[in-house]
Amino acid sequence: MIETGDFTIDNRIVTSEAIEEDAALDKGLRPQTLSEYIGQDKVKENLAIYIEAARRRDGALDHVLLYGPPGLGKTTLSAIIAREMGVNLRITTGPAIERPGDLAAILTNLSPGDVLFIDEIHRLSRAVEEILYPALEDHAIDIIVGKGPSARSLRVDLPEFTLVGATTRAGQLSAPLRDRFGIVQRLELYTPEQLSDIIRRSSQILGIPCTLDGALELAKRSRGTPRIANRLLKRVRDFADVLGDGEITEVIARTALDRLEIDRLGLDSNDRRMLDMIIRSYGGGPVGLETLAAALGEEAVTLEDVCEPFLMQLGFLARTPRGRCATQLAYAHLGYPPPQSPGMLPEQMELGTE
Ligand code: ADE
Repeated sequence: MIETGDFTIDNRIVTSEAIEEDAALDKGLRPQTLSEYIGQDKVKENLAIYIEAARRRDGALDHVLLYGPPGLGKTTLSAIIAREMGVNLRITTGPAIERPGDLAAILTNLSPGDVLFIDEIHRLSRAVEEILYPALEDHAIDIIVGKGPSARSLRVDLPEFTLVGATTRAGQLSAPLRDRFGIVQRLELYTPEQLSDIIRRSSQILGIPCTLDGALELAKRSRGTPRIANRLLKRVRDFADVLGDGEITEVIARTALDRLEIDRLGLDSNDRRMLDMIIRSYGGGPVGLETLAAALGEEAVTLEDVCEPFLMQLGFLARTPRGRCATQLAYAHLGYPPPQSPGMLPEQMELGTE
C-alpha cells in the first residue's frame, strides 16, 4: 500500500536531519576517540595518520573537508579530531555566518592549533568566503577600516588553525574553497553490521537490553545512518517497555518498526511514494528531479540529500543524464510486475551519490 499523505520529511522519524531530541540523546552516545568510532574505516585510517604526523611536527592539522549524506557523523569526527589533537573545538554553520565581520570575530578568537568546524559550508556567502581564503592560506585576514576614500585595508595575523568543513553537497562548493582543503574525505552510508554494532554500543550506554537479532533488525531499517539508528533505538525501547519485558528482541523491533511504517529494508512511506510516483506517473522514468519534486510537493534538495542516497544504495533508483529511473528491484519491492521495457540494467545505473 502506498501512502498518499503529505510528503513531510521534517516530521519523519527516519529523517536524517538533526532534531532537538537527538541533541540530548547524542551527548553520551558520541564516540570520543577514533578507536571508539565504528565504521568509515578508510576515513579513520587516513585521519589517524594525518593527526599523528601533525602531532609529531607539533603543527596544526591541514584543513579537512568531510562530505556525504546527513547523519553519518561529520560533527562527531570533527570533535574527535580536536580531541586527538588536544585542541579546542569551535562549532558554527555556514548560514550562521552572515557577514564577513562575523567570521573575522570567530577567527580572531581562535587559539593556536584550534579546530574550527563549519557545518553546511557550501552555504557560506561569497563575501564571507573571500575572508576565509587568506585565513586558510596565510593565517591572516584583511579588514577594511573606515569608509569611502579614506578606507584602508588592515592585515590582522591569526594563529595557525584547522578548518573542518562539512557538507552534504561537495559539488556546490566553489572551486577556490574546495582547493584549499588539503584533506578531503567522503563519508559513506553504514552497513547493517556496522549500524548493529553502533546500536549495541548505544544500548549499553543507555542501559537498554537489546539482543543481537534485535539490534540487527533495527540496523537494517536505519537507512545506513547512525543518527536514525540511535533515534529508532529510543522509539523501539518504548514498544519493548510496553509490549514486552523491556528487552529489544527481533520480534519487538519488527513489530515496532512495522507500526512506524518503516519497511523491512528501511524505506518509509515517503521513499515508497517517491518510487511509486516514478513508476506509476512516469512509466518508471527517466523523470527530472525538479519535475519529481514538484509532483511530490517537496524540495529537490531534500529528495537529493535525504531520499536518493539510500534508494541508490539499495539499487532502487538510478540517476541517468535524462533523469531518475526506478530499477527492476524497486518494481519488485513495491509489488509491481517487472516493467515492459527491460528497465534499468545494472551497467546503466550510476550509483554514486554526488
Ligand atoms: N554513534 C553515532 N555514530 C557512531 C559511530 N560511527 N561509532 C560509534 N558510535 C556512534
